[in-house]
Amino acid sequence: MPNYQAFQLAATDNATTATWITQAQPEPQPGWALVQVAYSDMNYKDALTTDPKSGVIHHYPQTPGIDAAGTILACPSGNFEPGTAVVLTGFDVGVKQAGGYAECLLVPEAWLQRLPTGLTLREAMIFGTAGFTAALSVQALLQNPLLQDKAQPILISGGTGGVGGFAIAILKKLGYQQLIASTRHPERAHDYLKALGATAVISLADLTTPPLKPLMKQQFSGYVDALGGSTLSAVLPQMNYGGVVALSGNAAGIKLSTTTLPFILRGIQLVGIDSVYYPAQRRTAIWQHLATDWRPAQLEQFVHSTITPQQLATTLADYLHQPKTGRILVDLQQA
Ligand SMILES: NC(=O)c1ccc[n+]([C@@H]2O[C@H](COP(=O)([O-])OP(=O)(O)OC[C@H]3O[C@@H](n4cnc5c(N)ncnc54)[C@H](OP(=O)(O)O)[C@@H]3O)[C@@H](O)[C@H]2O)c1
Repeated sequence: MPNYQAFQLAATDNATTATWITQAQPEPQPGWALVQVAYSDMNYKDALTTDPKSGVIHHYPQTPGIDAAGTILACPSGNFEPGTAVVLTGFDVGVKQAGGYAECLLVPEAWLQRLPTGLTLREAMIFGTAGFTAALSVQALLQNPLLQDKAQPILISGGTGGVGGFAIAILKKLGYQQLIASTRHPERAHDYLKALGATAVISLADLTTPPLKPLMKQQFSGYVDALGGSTLSAVLPQMNYGGVVALSGNAAGIKLSTTTLPFILRGIQLVGIDSVYYPAQRRTAIWQHLATDWRPAQLEQFVHSTITPQQLATTLADYLHQPKTGRILVDLQQA
């Protein structure tokens, strides 16, 4: 069996150390498939794997990388022919079992999606978990009666990052006319967010600064929330009657401080979005949207950088500490 290279994090008390290790290619058992990884990417969750206290990785040493795109090397069931292009996001990959930061990935075949026509492996990883989660968030918004009117105002947080950025671009593609992007860095991020499709850029501090009350001036009919925590607490009282919040993120914290009033007096909906265990059979439709009618006009504008395996350790360690716009791709073909 040939060997392959895998990135591995080992944990000490409060930190992790990174190395590349050489492993023998495994023989997949029935129900499993071996994938040659071409590209992975970097999500907020991947960055948290460098902190053992985050709890993202259950047991170290582990190979992180919650996303991968590549081609089938072996699949004993015959459900995927060798050479078939596939994409994988979520499930236990890069968390409970080895992830996409490796030349090869052994996974249950049920977790794999065929690469949709119209997308390259690289483009699938420009989207990755972030694009997929943005699409789930948009799907939740589209089910709200108020948002059948494309003139309704929609707030999007975390737009300089993956989930928020794709949400802006998809909603723009769908014709929404009032897309308000919040950021901690309005001056630095203004032009980028406008280029994605935001019609207004506001400071996160303006949304969250007291005095906050249980019910405030109604401003937004939809909210794609990549932050949660104090941001969500502040926005709930500012939702329009009948509006909807699609909550996926916790970058601003996991605690929510609120009252019943926005729900029982304004009828707003709070919809939880989970991309990790979203049912495999419903994923195909989401990827189809991303490849066609929801595909942002210029996908490449989301690419902050494409890094080599040699740059992976440093980039992962720096991720949460260096403000950036867009997505980081990992090219595993150079391993
Ligand atoms: N539920 C799910 O299935 C799911 C799937 C994917 C992601 N997520 C979660 O969604 C969030 C976004 O993920 P992502 O991969 O899109 O992240 P990302 O690309 O790193 O972007 C996160 C953005 O959030 C803002 N931000 C970061 N830390 C913040 C803080 N402490 N307070 C306020 N704003 C902060 C930043 O925007 P500014 O610098 O412009 O303010 C940043 O660009 C994360 O919490 C992630 O865990 C959940």
